[in-house]
Amino acid sequence: MAETYDLTIIGTGPGGYVCAIRAAQLGMKVAVVEKREYHGGTCLNVGCIPSKALLHASEMFEEAGHDFGALGIKISKPKLDLKAMMGHRQETVEANVQGVGFLLKKNKIDTVHGTGKITGPGKVEVVLADGGAQTIETKNIVIATGSDVATLPGIEIDEKTIVSSTGALELGKVPETLVVVGAGVIGLELGSVWRRLGSNVIVVEFLDRILPGMDGETAKTFMRSLKKQGMTFKLGKKVTGAAKRGKALEISVEPAKGGDAETISADVMLVAIGRIPYTSGLGLEEAGVALDERGRVKIDNHYATNVAGIYAIGDVVEGPMLAHKAEDEGLALAELLAGKAGHVNYDVIPGVVYTMPEVAVVGKTEEELKDAGVAYNVGKFPFTANGRARAMRKMDGQIKILADAKTDRVLGVHMIGASVGEMIHEAAVLMEFGGSAEDLMRTCHAHPTMSEAVREAALAVDKRAIHM
Ligand code: FAD
Ligand code: NAI
Repeated sequence: MAETYDLTIIGTGPGGYVCAIRAAQLGMKVAVVEKREYHGGTCLNVGCIPSKALLHASEMFEEAGHDFGALGIKISKPKLDLKAMMGHRQETVEANVQGVGFLLKKNKIDTVHGTGKITGPGKVEVVLADGGAQTIETKNIVIATGSDVATLPGIEIDEKTIVSSTGALELGKVPETLVVVGAGVIGLELGSVWRRLGSNVIVVEFLDRILPGMDGETAKTFMRSLKKQGMTFKLGKKVTGAAKRGKALEISVEPAKGGDAETISADVMLVAIGRIPYTSGLGLEEAGVALDERGRVKIDNHYATNVAGIYAIGDVVEGPMLAHKAEDEGLALAELLAGKAGHVNYDVIPGVVYTMPEVAVVGKTEEELKDAGVAYNVGKFPFTANGRARAMRKMDGQIKILADAKTDRVLGVHMIGASVGEMIHEAAVLMEFGGSAEDLMRTCHAHPTMSEAVREAALAVDKRAIHM
């Protein structure tokens, strides 16, 4: 008789594999089903990890080409070896996905390679990658199938000239002109990579701003930095077509509100207009699992769907499509299934854009506080007034802290600057403990560090910054 698992997870991205490991730690018998060759999902295979490998390498290339002279280091113009840079990306991915495979094994989690489908209560049927099929009997099922690229109607992604993020991570040569559709996180990160490597990057964004949902002033300040670096923005515009003329693309761009079209020639177009939940082929309709109005698996606050024994986490459910959000949901669900108090605080999920400068945010934006009628104080501190930032010539950016006007509780922190993706966590910890700007300003910060700017911004909430 087939073995019955306590838990079977479909998809081994950050949501699925973390849930599996925690469940195994808590004594459950766990199986995972993955249709990709390697574990780690979008994030490790074609998302977070390869993009950060290229962001780092291209940043080093740009620094070597433009910034070393000012530090007294004379070198000749650096040469790009794109093949070797892609090799670095691939090595990074391989090390990470193998790491996940090792962790699953170490935790005695059974892995089934193939495409999973829910065929009844406690039943997952897998079309195996190397042929044949297998039925898994299980007490509980977790849908952790992630998301897929959103496409533009009438525009076919061939991953060569019209690419999604996946193709943009693997271009064989630096495009002379790259048109990026969508000024979201993917567009700005991957646009930055190719601009640093020599492309003329034109970003076409439907809205009249970049990074929708982020604090408005922060997004505006950040856009100024990107423009200074040479990125071009066409805001309030949409791409309505792309025709191949020989090796080039003729891209039609129209004002979002209607009006005359213009044509832009480019070698490559990156479509980065968001991602959609991945639910196809899972048998959800037959199993009676309800979706919400945006096609996401509908869950309650314990990640349970409307069908007993079926749960869902990560990109396939509501909330920000972020790897750490998926991981935290995986942890929380495993704990809940083990009868413990699993919980995710959705008010304190940091977001980072890994460009240079980086953008790092946590909590409420000014717009959200205004809409909610919450009175708040603002404290800001620029990196131009921070000694360490000057020593490193990384003065672009600022820290902004939003604190409740009555209680001084920190409600939101918005950072632009080098390494702020690491610095945001001091704000996250403070906010988890319901801390105030005063708590932050009274905490001794080592000198000279970039983090002193966080303390100065906290002092500025009370209009008493020292170095400004
Ligand atoms: P996924 O990682 O998408 O994993 C789902 C897995 O399920 C996949 O491996 C898929 O093959 C598998 N699957 C689907 N259906 C089936 C089936 N029927 N049977 C078997 N297996 C199945 N987030 C960040 O937080 N930081 C970043 O820096 C970042 N960078 C990104 C860069 C790019 C270019 C992209 C595209 C995304 C990035 N993200 C980033 C987002 C991040 O990748 C996702 O939020 C995260 O991967 C979601 O995790 P998940 O476990 O929900 O799903
Ligand atoms: P996104 O939602 O961040 O941005 C999409 C952008 O495209 C928006 O600005 C939107 O207004 C615009 N847009 C939509 N339709 C358009 C159209 N027809 N024409 C022009 N512009 C249009 O989505 P993105 O960048 O594709 O990223 C997908 C997900 O991946 C995000 O949810 C993000 O959280 C995640 N991600 C996270 C990263 C990180 O944490 N550093 C890095 C990369 C991706």
